[in-house]
This record gives sequence, structure tokens and C-alpha cells, in this order.
Amino acid sequence: MGYRDVYAAWKADPEQFWMEAAEAIDWERMPSKALSDENAPFFEWFADGMVNTCWNAVDRHVEAGRGAQTAIIHDSPVTGTIHKISYAELRDRVASLAGALRARGIDKGDRVIIYMPMVPEAVEAMLACARIGAIHSVVFGGFAAHELAVRIDDAKPKAIIAASCGIEPGRVVHYKPLLDGAIEQAAHKVDFCVIFQREQEVAKLIEGRDVDWFAFQYGVEPADCLPVEGNHPAYILYTSGTTGQPKGVVRHTGGHLVALNWSMKNIYGVDPGEVFWAASDVGWVVGHSYICYGPLIHGNTTIVFEGKPVGTPDAGTFWRVIQDHKVRAFFTAPTAFRAIKREDPKGEFLKNYDISSLRTLFLAGERADPDTVLWAQDMLKVPVIDHWWQTETGWPMVGNPMGIEPLPVKVGSPTVPMPGYDIHILDEAGQPMEAGQLGAIAVKLPLPPGTLPTLWNAEGRFRKAYLDHFPGYYETGDAGYIDEEGYLYIMARTDDVINVAGHRLSTGGMEEILASHPDVAECAVIGVTDQLKGQLPLGFLCTNTGTNRSDEDIVSECVKLVRDRIGPVAAFKHAIVVKRLPKTRSGKILRATMVKIADSADFKVPATIDDPAIIDEIREALRTIGYAS
Ligand code: COA
Ligand code: AMP
Repeated sequence: MGYRDVYAAWKADPEQFWMEAAEAIDWERMPSKALSDENAPFFEWFADGMVNTCWNAVDRHVEAGRGAQTAIIHDSPVTGTIHKISYAELRDRVASLAGALRARGIDKGDRVIIYMPMVPEAVEAMLACARIGAIHSVVFGGFAAHELAVRIDDAKPKAIIAASCGIEPGRVVHYKPLLDGAIEQAAHKVDFCVIFQREQEVAKLIEGRDVDWFAFQYGVEPADCLPVEGNHPAYILYTSGTTGQPKGVVRHTGGHLVALNWSMKNIYGVDPGEVFWAASDVGWVVGHSYICYGPLIHGNTTIVFEGKPVGTPDAGTFWRVIQDHKVRAFFTAPTAFRAIKREDPKGEFLKNYDISSLRTLFLAGERADPDTVLWAQDMLKVPVIDHWWQTETGWPMVGNPMGIEPLPVKVGSPTVPMPGYDIHILDEAGQPMEAGQLGAIAVKLPLPPGTLPTLWNAEGRFRKAYLDHFPGYYETGDAGYIDEEGYLYIMARTDDVINVAGHRLSTGGMEEILASHPDVAECAVIGVTDQLKGQLPLGFLCTNTGTNRSDEDIVSECVKLVRDRIGPVAAFKHAIVVKRLPKTRSGKILRATMVKIADSADFKVPATIDDPAIIDEIREALRTIGYAS
């Protein structure tokens, strides 16, 4: 069957489509049906099945005689080490860790926060939670103590599993002080912390609270896999919304297993036993779905890569990893390729490596600009496949189904909707738009298995953020259009979320922090275009009248404040002091207009602007820092 037949088969009978896909999963009790719609618009999948994620990702492959196959390759150019773990070893390591967690009182439904760099122990910690029905929440290592504290207070974990340090090029990231700081800031108190001590930095443990990763596993009984209900939360993953309070995306167990397993062959075109590499981080959804769960559930070998596309040690690192581990399918963000292209535009490093194992490059996380796609095609000589999805959906909404039927690539489009997703372009009033017309991208409910059923402890916010605007649809927050042949084009966000080097960040969250500076009366943060990272945040500060502080001091304090509160990942390095902000007569800050001015793009001054003269003031201020040329 080709793509159109498969999509039509799903549309004609979604229940049968997903029940068939569910057969590829080992259930302790097969679900009696796929969709539960009694509480629409809250939908659940495979709710009455009983299943364990860790069993499906690890043990079943060992039982099937594939215990000797490599499950995880840790390739770490920043420490100069490569370490392989077989499925059999992985089972034993995870069972031991899970047993130790259980012995310390972690039960089904308890939350465990994981704050770790790109080491296999991070994946093992996720799997150990899944093994005993605990709900993990992984926090990206580039977030600062405050962000970790916010997540501790929301998820209310019983335990935190952390590493002593991470390694960024040129510096050691001291996790322990960040962890201690977060625990101190948080109102919720955890029972204990498990610290994985790395060679590069051994952290001081706090007696009575911290336990050593190895020591606390000593003598414990390994844990078996505990079957849980299909609608039991597998994890919570926080993502940026319009405010500083992140949204806790919930993932249910059954749908997660079925959808990820289905996507590995049908979308990514890989067979069990092949090597799949997603160069992302376990702290992001790509890391959850395609470093940890997807490849392991499907019986692939996954790579945990601790390095950067450039500088670790050079722009040939990716090619070396592909060659050394015979990578079949490779997934990264366009920004990584822009970084390589900038250092090695002619692809000189490629000549040193044999990358003939590679079948396909997948790009996602941000817009894949045509220059980057064409350059990657030219260099790698394999299909370069853009695909579009979000933390909320957990797997691709729109892509090119390489395992069903590779469709012609249209550069600039992530291609077509995947089965499960009925995608529409809507106008402000929620009416469908014609082909080629730009509008809000919405997905007809129900969303398929593996997507978010709700937000953690925030059902009202879930409704408000995603369901209320277009009744009967899920609002993606992206805008775009569909062409005559059904190809989707993503053009912009409809909210204040920006995308910096494939990382999703909230300008609203940054504004809340800037506003807390004692000399800042008012502020705005926008995302300006950046050649490397796609977008970069830029702050506008109106200072309090009468302040005797210099603009330079206030700006540098604000930059430091955002780094300290959100973390280095915010990449907030530029801000300017202005006398006032452009606003409508009703007081709404004209952020979209400010972006256009900064990017030197064409724009019309909005008719509702309070004082048109301010446009020139903003342009002049931006010119002083190299924008609005
Ligand atoms: N722990 C601690 N700090 C981290 C971190 C982590 N896990 N990841 C990034 N940071 C820090 C970086 O060191 C940097 O700090 P600095 O301001 O002191 O230099 C800052 O956060 C910004 O990081 P980043 O945006 O990654 O920029 P970079 O300049 O270090 O690297 C690229 C640029 C393009 C090489 C890099 O962004 C990249 O590899 N991107 C791939 C995108 C990706 O994987 N996205 C995931 C979604 S698919
Ligand atoms: P995240 O939840 O961090 O994965 O970010 C999801 C957002 O990143 C989407 O809503 C889009 O705005 C953007 N995004 C992800 N993939 C793509 C893509 N292929 N093309 C354009 N934008 C993308």
C-alpha cells in the first residue's frame, strides 16, 4: 500500500488501524478497544490494556534471543570515550536501578525528576522508572536552578536522579550546585536524590538526602516489570508556553508504545537491529521519543551522543559517528547543519569518512530553511526529510513516510499528514481556508495515540491553550498553509514562543524575569532572525525614571538575570534600553512589528498604533546594536 492508501485506511477506520498497530506491542492484557471518547474532548488510547514500557523497550528483545545486540552506544567526544551496552546488559542495569528505587519507596505513580547530561545512565533512569510504573520528568541540563525548582514544585517528585556534572565545550557544567539550589528554592521537598558521579567531577553528597548511584544499588533485588494501565502516565515533559510557568505535557503509556513503534518503520524506514541516531538531548521530546523510547521499543541500536556538531573536535564529528557506528537513519535539527556548513562550507571533512551506511537524514525542531536542506542533500547524497511535530504530539504530525512510500520532496515543506492527524488550516473564526491560504494549523480531534491527553495538574490550562480557540480541534500554535497537492508549509508561530537553535523558549517567561529587575519599568522580548540559530531573543527595556544607573549596567545585569534564572540555553545576550515601547491605543505591545523592524523586513505600520513616531525611535535604537540595517 502507498501513502494515500494507508492514510485513507486510517481515516476510514481509525479504531481498526490502531488496534492492528497495537499488535506489535507485548501486552500483559490486550486492550479491548483503541479509543476511549467518553470524556471528549479529553481522549485516551488503549486505556484498559495492561502493559509495561520497559518490558517492550528492553526485556522482550532479550527474551527473543537478541540480548547480545547493542542497545545503546554512548559516543562522547567531549570525554573521548565510546561505550556500548547490549540489550542483556541494559536489562540487568535497569532492573537493578529500578529495584533500588523501589527499595527506597518509589512506587507506581510516584514522580521522579531526572536531571542529567547525555550519558546512558539518563536513558537507564528513564527506563527504570518505567519498569516500576514511576512517572519520570526529565529536565534539560541547560536549564538553571530556578527552572528546575519550578518543575519540582509542579511535578512534586519523591526523588531526583542527577549526575555530578555535564560537559560543554570548554567548561564543566556543575550540576550539583544547581540541584542543591533548586531543592532549596522549591517549596516541595524530595525524599532523596540519587547522584551519578562522573569521573570529570565528583560531587559532595549531602548526608541523609543524597545517595550514590552505585552504592544505593548494592545488594538490592532487581525489579521485574510492573504492568500498568494503558492510560497510566509514562512521563511528564515540561515545555515552554506563553508564560514563565512551563506546561507539563503528559504522555500515556499505551499510546506512546504503539505510536512510537509504528513510526520507526513507517516514518523513519528502519528495521530492528539497525542503528538509529537522533543527535538531540534526553531533555527534549526528540530525546524521549527517538533517543530513548522509539528505537529501543522497535529493537534498534540507539546512540547517546555527548558532543556538538562543531568543535568536538571539529565539523567532521557527525560523519565520524555515522561511519563508526554504521548509522542508517540520522535525525537532527537544521541549526546543527547550519553550524557545520558555516565551518566547512565545501564539506572537506566529509572526504575523510565513509558514510555509505546512511540512508536518510531527518530534520525537525525548527523550520528547515531551503539553503540548509539543499546543502545537506548535496553533501550527503541521501534524501533530506523535513518533518514537523511538537513536544505535545510526541511523534511526527507531518512527514514523509519513508517506510511506506517516499514521496517527492518539496523543499520548504515537511510533506504530508501522517495517519492519525487530520490537519486543517483555519481562519480566526475557525473556518477552513482554501489551499494556499495562510492560517492557523489545527488538528481535528481526537489526536492519535502517543499525543498529550492533558497537562499535568492543569486541565483548565490544557483546554485554554489547545482546545478552546477552535472547538473540535487541537490548536498547534503554528501558522502555515497546505498546497493543492496536500503538502503543508509551516510559516510562523501564532504565540510568543520562539525557537532558538531548535530549542523552544518563551519570550513571556523572559519578560517576567526582566520585569523583576528593580530598574526596569517595562519590557518586551522578541525573537529576531539569526543565521545560525534561526532565532535569538532580544530584549527592550524601559528603565524607571530617576534611576541613576547606567544603561550598560542595567543591560548586563538583565542578561545575567535571564542566564541565572532560565539558564544558558535561553541564549539571551542582547538587550537595549528604549524610552518607550510601540503599543496599540489599547496598550498591546506591537511585538510582531518590532520583529519586522529588527529583521529589516517590509511591514505596514498598524493602524491601531498609539504614536507612529515611535517606529523611528525603535529603528534607531536597534541600529546601535547592529539590527534594522
Ligand atoms: N547543559 C548545560 N549548558 C548547555 C547545554 C546543556 N545540556 N546545552 C547547551 N548549553 C549551553 C551552551 O553551552 C551555551 O552556553 P554559552 O552561552 O555559555 O555558550 C548555551 O547553552 C546555548 O547553547 P546552544 O544554543 O546549544 O548554542 P551553542 O552555541 O553552544 O551551539 C549549535 C550551537 C548550533 C552547535 C547547537 O545549538 C546545536 O548543536 N544545536 C542542535 C540543536 C538540537 O539538538 N536541538 C534539539 C531539538 S531537536
Ligand atoms: P518542540 O515542542 O520543542 O519540539 O517545538 C515544537 C515547535 O517547533 C513547533 O510547534 C514549531 O513551531 C517548531 N517546529 C518543529 N519542527 C518544525 C519543522 N519541521 N518546521 C518548522 N517548524 C518546526
